[in-house]
Amino acid sequence: MRVELFAIFAFATCGGYSGQLRVSVDCMEKASSNLSIAIDFAYPFRLHQVSFEAPMCEGMRRERLFLIGDFSSSAEFFVTIAVFAFLYSLVATVVYILFWNKYRENNRGPLIDFVVTVVFSFMWLVSSSAWAKALSDVKLATDPGEVQLLISACKDQTNKCGSVQEPRWSGLNTSVVFGFLNFVLWAGNIWFVFKETGWHKGAARFVAGASEKHTGTFSQQPRNQDSFDQSGGFNTRGDLDQPSEYSQVGGPPTYANQM
Ligand SMILES: *[C@@H]1O[C@H](CO)[C@@H](O)[C@H](O)[C@H]1NC(C)=O
Repeated sequence: MRVELFAIFAFATCGGYSGQLRVSVDCMEKASSNLSIAIDFAYPFRLHQVSFEAPMCEGMRRERLFLIGDFSSSAEFFVTIAVFAFLYSLVATVVYILFWNKYRENNRGPLIDFVVTVVFSFMWLVSSSAWAKALSDVKLATDPGEVQLLISACKDQTNKCGSVQEPRWSGLNTSVVFGFLNFVLWAGNIWFVFKETGWHKGAARFVAGASEKHTGTFSQQPRNQDSFDQSGGFNTRGDLDQPSEYSQVGGPPTYANQM
């Protein structure tokens, strides 16, 4: 199971975002008013570089103002992880399809796949959390009510300031949802990739061997019960091939995984 499609949604909705808010400054002397000051911003949300002009309500004088905050590190981190996760799952899909036998042959492929999947799961969690936090800060910094506080004319009670339009957030909210969804999908994928490494088979064999030794030294319990525990606890392959597998351990080691 591969999940590259959801990674696309994560970085497309975030990286492709542009938004606009509008505020109005209604001066006492109407001539200098501007009732629709538009402020555009976009990914990567370096808001401290986003400027706009507002009337000062003193003749035709205007002031140039900047929004507050730089959220580019979280946004770029999120998009970078999403892009690399997408590229990795594309490459992994190609490897699965074209080189399936080679992939299974030596344990190297599944092992790398396992480690990378664990790392990406963790990165999805970290970057989605960081981006969710950054997004809530972006929402605050671009709230028309907050932006009004930057405009000096609005500090004078005789002028009226208002919010005309709030930015649309649905796209960015979606990107956060897709970020956490990707975390869940990749974390779930860990188990499937882990099975390919064959480690769980090795572990079951080891535990089975250890408990067999235990039976021999300390008690004379009927074997039936012991191997019943094994089959219930570790695998469903049946308990008959468990002892014979163990007895082969003395021979030349073989790393071929049985299905
Ligand atoms: C109001 O501000 C916008 C920029 O948001 C500008 O394009 C427009 O010319 C301004 N209008 C007046 C009347 O100054």
